[in-house]
Amino acid sequence: MRVLMVASELFPLVKTGGLADVAAALPRALERRGHDVRVLVPGYRGVLERTEGRLQPVPLGDPLGVGNAELVPARLPGSGTRIYVLRCPALYDRNGGPYGDAQGMDWSDNHLRFGMLAKAATIVAVAGAPLGWSPQVVHAHDWQAGLVPAYLQLWGGARPATIFTIHNLAFAGRFHPMLMAAVGLPHSLYAAHGVELYGAMSFLKAGLYYSDRLTTVSPTYAREIQTAEYGEGLQGLLSARAPHLHGIINGIDEDVWDPARDAALPATYDRAHLEGKVKIKLALQRELGLRQDPRAPIFGMVSRLTGQKGVDLILGNMRLLLQSGAQLVVLGSGAGGYELALGEAARQHPQQVGYRRGYDEPLSHRIMAGSDFILVPSRFEPCGLTQLYAQRYGALPIVRETGGLADTVLDSWAYPMHGTGFSFRDATNWAMGNAMWRGLQAWGTPRYAELQQRAMRRSFGWDPSAAAYEQVYLDALMEPIRKL
Ligand code: ADP
Ligand code: GLC
Repeated sequence: MRVLMVASELFPLVKTGGLADVAAALPRALERRGHDVRVLVPGYRGVLERTEGRLQPVPLGDPLGVGNAELVPARLPGSGTRIYVLRCPALYDRNGGPYGDAQGMDWSDNHLRFGMLAKAATIVAVAGAPLGWSPQVVHAHDWQAGLVPAYLQLWGGARPATIFTIHNLAFAGRFHPMLMAAVGLPHSLYAAHGVELYGAMSFLKAGLYYSDRLTTVSPTYAREIQTAEYGEGLQGLLSARAPHLHGIINGIDEDVWDPARDAALPATYDRAHLEGKVKIKLALQRELGLRQDPRAPIFGMVSRLTGQKGVDLILGNMRLLLQSGAQLVVLGSGAGGYELALGEAARQHPQQVGYRRGYDEPLSHRIMAGSDFILVPSRFEPCGLTQLYAQRYGALPIVRETGGLADTVLDSWAYPMHGTGFSFRDATNWAMGNAMWRGLQAWGTPRYAELQQRAMRRSFGWDPSAAAYEQVYLDALMEPIRKL
């Protein structure tokens, strides 16, 4: 099959979260199954700097009246997957992140930035000619690509099948309805049966409503989002579309995340040779200025620091952690309050708490490898990747039983023969503390070693999930929906 993926992030060119990893690893897994997959990504300044000048760009004209756009064909560093970088200097050539400026303020023209992304995908998909290649399936990810299915329904003619994947329902891509015209949508689409969501136009809703098939990144999250608790007001639509909604768990790139070959680590190791892991732990303690002691268990966390991620539950268990003699290592940035609280804890307890603010790919690998437990106490988690890395790197995950965390970590108290971590249900300090306490009980005993071996034996490769996507593509091709 010929598949065009459309995503606003793509590892290693641009990443703020797991979407980037999926947008890079899923195409590769599909390629291995014989498909022709290409990825369309916005030409942010940093992305263009790494792809420019390779092949002849393909002009797209000025589809939204904001400036000329063109596609720069290139290959993704590392995997060699074919990509199209969407160059439109008026929209993407600026300093800052993919969604906002360095201060964290959203770009005021995000409707155009991501409207353009969807427009470009549509031109490639229906006009065919500009690239000499056209997809049979367009796979759009998250709200930033949400207009793709809407544009393709509006087109009316023969079109590829559309798949929309929800990586995070909490980001709805909402804009003032007056901006409909600017992104080329007729006002008639501004309706409950359309793109309207609580008095705004929502790019996410466009994706959910107009795509042939929907997927999300775990079976449990697929169920949860059909309830009021997790549905963000979209539970009605999602329940109505349940027969077309599939939960497919993410894999991890087992080449990028392999403790036996990881270039970011000061030593390597595998299940049968764990001495390297101890060396890495001591180096991590040194790097963060913690007391160097292989017997002190390290609880690690690598995460965006937002309400979603349950950072407050970690802060709420600081005393338990400190009194037990354990250590905490956190890498991440996000809400100012969490950053301040973690920074303060590190200042007050320099031997036991280490906090690094910012985004640091190599350090994230060292934390996975050097930690004994990885904390993922999320309030909601569509899939989550760090609990998967953790198991592969022999750190036991401590997670809240929600979304993909519930699907990938089995509690080792409830399931002594099969569990590989510790989990808790309620988002309370007590429940989280209890799970941490159970982890501490195992620490230093043969039980810990047994769980660690079991965790490291697990496989989190992409192939089974790629096969599941393939099936969804086929379904969509055979039975497209018509909404207009
Ligand atoms: P989300 O996509 O909600 O942020 P995931 O667990 O799916 O959550 O993916 C997060 C990804 O981002 C992981 O690959 C994680 O290692 C990475 N990550 C998050 N914060 C940082 C950081 N500060 N430095 C390096 N990598 C990070
Ligand atoms: C989102 C989710 C996360 C998921 C990732 C990749 O950002 O928050 O749970 O793993 O997308 O699908």
